[in-house]
Amino acid sequence: MTGRTGEGRVALVTGGNRGLGRETCRQLAQDGFRVILTARNDRQGRAAAGSLAESGLVVEHRPLDVTDPGSIAALVDGLRSDGIRPDVLVHNAGIALDGFDAEVARKTLAANFDGPMNLTDALTGLMPDGAVIVMVSSGAGDLTGFSPAIRRQLLEPDLDRETLSALMRDFIDAVANGSYASAGWPGSAYKVSKAGLNALTRALARDLAARGIKVNAVCPGWVRTDMGGSSAPRNVGKGAASIVWAAEIDADGPTGGFFRDGKPIAW
Ligand SMILES: NC(=O)c1ccc[n+]([C@@H]2O[C@H](COP(=O)([O-])OP(=O)(O)OC[C@H]3O[C@@H](n4cnc5c(N)ncnc54)[C@H](OP(=O)(O)O)[C@@H]3O)[C@@H](O)[C@H]2O)c1
Repeated sequence: MTGRTGEGRVALVTGGNRGLGRETCRQLAQDGFRVILTARNDRQGRAAAGSLAESGLVVEHRPLDVTDPGSIAALVDGLRSDGIRPDVLVHNAGIALDGFDAEVARKTLAANFDGPMNLTDALTGLMPDGAVIVMVSSGAGDLTGFSPAIRRQLLEPDLDRETLSALMRDFIDAVANGSYASAGWPGSAYKVSKAGLNALTRALARDLAARGIKVNAVCPGWVRTDMGGSSAPRNVGKGAASIVWAAEIDADGPTGGFFRDGKPIAW
């Protein structure tokens, strides 16, 4: 499979104001995409897009909080009225909160799982057939630490979106009532959110195959960002390249897979 460069096509990236999202925008724009850099903080989003545009790249900012249905609707309405149909959608926005309780579980699932699901649902109507969706996941979302029964459910080839969402709600409930360990869940909301995102990747790849829309999950590796911390071994350029690889797959490329640096990794 050879990668496909932008050729003026549109790529939309969430959480583009800093870290891996900003660098993903820079690399995609450098490869010839018209980039829509979205951010929940208007001032920071404008500053990030402005600094990339100053270096001659085609990058514009639009506001988006992936946890806010009104914000998703406003973004999609704006794109539609401006005649913009994203060819590539990168779900990069994510959080890794300190601590572990029901509130942390709820907020983490809202940003890392429901956000990508709701934005995909709202945007796919506008995206052309043959479009590409990238879920920025994590090796932390692998299925070690889950009970065999939950692993089986998450890996079920016909797992539908409603059952998956209900399973994620079960996790939040189990954290709230203290039964998560005996119910077979690991003690990390971030891990569960990314395992859920991976299962969503497989379900969406199946659902969108008829339109030729490819959906893959990627791990950027452990990267020096606000989230990854200063001890991480990778720079942001190398981490974002892992994301950009999946954004630039062509019609022969994979769908429903999980990759780091362009190579398959275990769920
Ligand atoms: N760094 C690593 O080692 C690593 C490893 C594996 C996977 N990842 C994944 O890579 C992605 C990017 O991480 P990063 O390291 O670049 O983290 P980061 O520096 O903490 O950046 C996270 C980005 O997500 C945005 N965001 C969070 N919640 C949002 C929401 N509700 N709506 C819109 N944007 C939101 C943040 O916006 P604000 O500035 O407004 O907070 C920020 O732009 C995440 O999905 C993360 O899980 C990172």
